[in-house]
Amino acid sequence: MKNKSFANIFKYSKKYIKIQFFLLIPTVIAVLFPLIRPIVIKQFIDNILNKDIKIILSYVFLLLGIVVVERLINFFSNNLLYKTINNISSKEKVSLFKKIFKLSLKDLKKYTSGDILSRVLQDTDELSQTISIVYLVIFANILQLISAAFLLFSFSYKLAIIAYSTLPLFYITSKLFDKKIKNSSINERKTNSVLIESFREKLSGFKTIIGFSKKDHFLNQFEDDSIKDKNAKNKLIFYTRAQDEFISFIYNLIPILILGIGGLLVQRKEISLGTLIAFYSYIGWLNHPIQMLSNIVISVKKSKETLKRIEEIYNLPEDEHNGNDLLESIKNIELKNISFSYEDKEIIKNINLNIVSNNKYSIVGESGSGKSTLLNLLPLFYKDFSGNIFINNKNIKEYDINSLHKKILYVSQNEFILNDTLKENIFFGDTFSEKDIKKAIEYSCINDFLPELEDGMKTVLGENGSNLSDGQKQRITIARAIIRKPDLLILDESTNAIDSKTEEKIFDSISKIIPTIIIISHRLSTIKKAENIIIINDGKVLSKGSHKDLLENCKEYSRNIESQLLH
Ligand SMILES: Nc1ncnc2c1ncn2[C@@H]1O[C@H](COP(=O)(O)OP(=O)(O)OP(=O)(O)O)[C@@H](O)[C@H]1O
Ligand SMILES: [Mg+2]
Repeated sequence: MKNKSFANIFKYSKKYIKIQFFLLIPTVIAVLFPLIRPIVIKQFIDNILNKDIKIILSYVFLLLGIVVVERLINFFSNNLLYKTINNISSKEKVSLFKKIFKLSLKDLKKYTSGDILSRVLQDTDELSQTISIVYLVIFANILQLISAAFLLFSFSYKLAIIAYSTLPLFYITSKLFDKKIKNSSINERKTNSVLIESFREKLSGFKTIIGFSKKDHFLNQFEDDSIKDKNAKNKLIFYTRAQDEFISFIYNLIPILILGIGGLLVQRKEISLGTLIAFYSYIGWLNHPIQMLSNIVISVKKSKETLKRIEEIYNLPEDEHNGNDLLESIKNIELKNISFSYEDKEIIKNINLNIVSNNKYSIVGESGSGKSTLLNLLPLFYKDFSGNIFINNKNIKEYDINSLHKKILYVSQNEFILNDTLKENIFFGDTFSEKDIKKAIEYSCINDFLPELEDGMKTVLGENGSNLSDGQKQRITIARAIIRKPDLLILDESTNAIDSKTEEKIFDSISKIIPTIIIISHRLSTIKKAENIIIINDGKVLSKGSHKDLLENCKEYSRNIESQLLH
């Protein structure tokens, strides 16, 4: 189990081995240079009685110089090390973010935003602390351990044997805490994700929480989540610190042993006092790499769980799309025996439909009957439906996805608004001519409120358009779609916050430039705009026809209309 965790981390960090290779030279210098100091100390002490004050002073200055150089080397090599960690951490974040954008909507929805945030922003940071330096730290410390061993054995093999015989104790201590650290690390990552999600959720529900006077309730909830996270963190700290202290205890035992046994050897004149002092000051060179190696073992143990969380995302299948054919224009769309389920629940049940270009369609049905789900299949937001969708008699999956998304645009009632200018919200990463912008804002009736905006098209809309009314936001998302002149525009209740007069104006002008439109609406005035009305009931097509046909032949439709007329 443990070996596997090491293997996983090593396997994952292989891609950064080259970067670590470049750090090797400064690290080796930083490890080996300090070995000079105890040799100088030994010479200094052994000759102290025979030398005059000048020599003593020159030794002091020599030692001072060595310390200054040591610190400088340390500063530069550490600086390089942390820069590398930050570099790799940034790369890991971008790479995970890229992967997330390749996932299917279905897989992504299995995770809360807080969980995703915690994985992309925090787990990558923590993991990078280990993976960016793991090879280097192991190499540098083994090098230090060996070079120290070489010197220590050359000073006194008896003392060296005593010092090195304590090494297995470090391994036993590390084993002792293995499971505890693993479990508390899993738990800490989980409670942290929950806390971030809890915060995100309450912040986005701020208005509702205030409106229902539930500040205290949700504050308490957040406090609970925060306490759980704190407890998990404390537990993890407890075990990692305990392991650290156990190791330090052994670490502190060694000098006592050395002083005791070394003192005896000096008395017996087996070694000089200078040798004992030099040996004593070298113990740090034995202890330091052991401490560093045990730290890296702790990091690897903790990172193992973090890596699992990151690899869980990497192991999700990419939302594959192999179609290459360019979709030039849409003449007709045929849905053949389409069924679709979210988890186990079948939402769309064997639907057959024909959508012919240059027509307007209305989809009508009770809330939850599957209208949005059905239309989500046309831009292939979900691909795992059964049955086939044909565009111009060719399977939709054979088309290049980008060309498909140029021709079919879907606008829901609360589309995403960037915290950017009105212009950038319409451009959305593309550029358009002044003439196109003018048309788009005129057709989507943005002109009605544009003069009220302080900076006109340059007005920043706030997070998710918080500076605008719902109807204004909807007009912007419609403009974003129509400026791109799709062949098929799907409007899923995308004007339900706009007054019916403006809505009518928008539909009339859109109809002039977009050949085919599918509208989902609960408003009769909107429904009637389409010459083809499709009634969906419980995931099935119940009936279709014109408003007049349906009034005569479809009871559900006429009942629906009656209830609307009553309002
Ligand atoms: N992401 C999802 N995961 C699981 N089930 C979902 C998901 N989205 C919708 N559903 C379920 O699918 C069913 C159909 O939902 P859909 O949004 O298609 O209905 P609708 O006809 O558009 O309703 P409305 O008029 O309220 O917008 C509902 O029972 C809903 O609970
Ligand atoms: Mg819907």
